[in-house]
Amino acid sequence: MRAVLMGPPSAGKGTQAARLGTEFGVPHISTGDMFRAAIAAGTDLGQQARGFIEAGKLVPDDVTMGIVRERLAEADARLGFVLDGFPRTVPQAEGLGEILASQDVKLDVVVLIEVPEEELIRRATGRRICQQCGRVYHIEWNPPPGHACECGGALVQRKDDSPETVKERLATYRTQTEPLRDYYSAEGSLAVVDGTGDPDEVHRRIVRVFEGCSL
Ligand code: AP5
Ligand code: MG
Repeated sequence: MRAVLMGPPSAGKGTQAARLGTEFGVPHISTGDMFRAAIAAGTDLGQQARGFIEAGKLVPDDVTMGIVRERLAEADARLGFVLDGFPRTVPQAEGLGEILASQDVKLDVVVLIEVPEEELIRRATGRRICQQCGRVYHIEWNPPPGHACECGGALVQRKDDSPETVKERLATYRTQTEPLRDYYSAEGSLAVVDGTGDPDEVHRRIVRVFEGCSL
């Protein structure tokens, strides 16, 4: 399975991609998670990405393409992947097409998860992440057992999950990422999935799409 999950901020890409990766035995590759790990580790990449992420803007295409090219060259990703939050611009989609063509493979499907804007804002501002194991909670819809994660780790809020930055991220999505809908639709690889309802329900919808792919 070579799949892309796309959709606006907090549509549930990470929640779904993690489950799908485990179920289909392929790595879950999130460019957002890679940038956050680089920021936490204080690397050059983290320094380059931080300002863009905290402002709700996209990290420049050349930087993003560099990390994806390296990751897709690793052995586990050669056999398949679920990409989460990449590509996010038309040049990134073209770059991904070139990488896959050089490996003589192609994407099976691009799943666009759609959720109404009011709910996206509630999902983002209510999200809490375990600093230790990375597990994602929602204070209302998927609350942690107490004040900490099940593993005992402290729960933190992403810096870019403030209401102002979420609005900026949404605007960035509308202008820079939404054109990919037409791009992949013209390629015949786009499947639009309703992202409302509980995560199990959304998962079942995506699995039905995967099952419909000629693998
Ligand atoms: P990234 O980390 O990818 O952020 P995003 O796209 O804004 O998406 P999120 O991670 O916020 O949401 P999600 O869709 O994964 O939802 P989740 O499952 O967590 O990117 C961050 C930044 O990095 C970007 O802004 C940009 O600066 C940079 N970047 C990343 N990729 C880039 C690229 N390719 N090019 C350039 N720059 C890039 O769910 C959200 C919340 O909702 C959680 O609390 C969850 O528990 C809850 N939830 C999930 N599903 C449901 C449901 N069905 N019902 C109720 N609640 C739900
Ligand atoms: Mg995510």
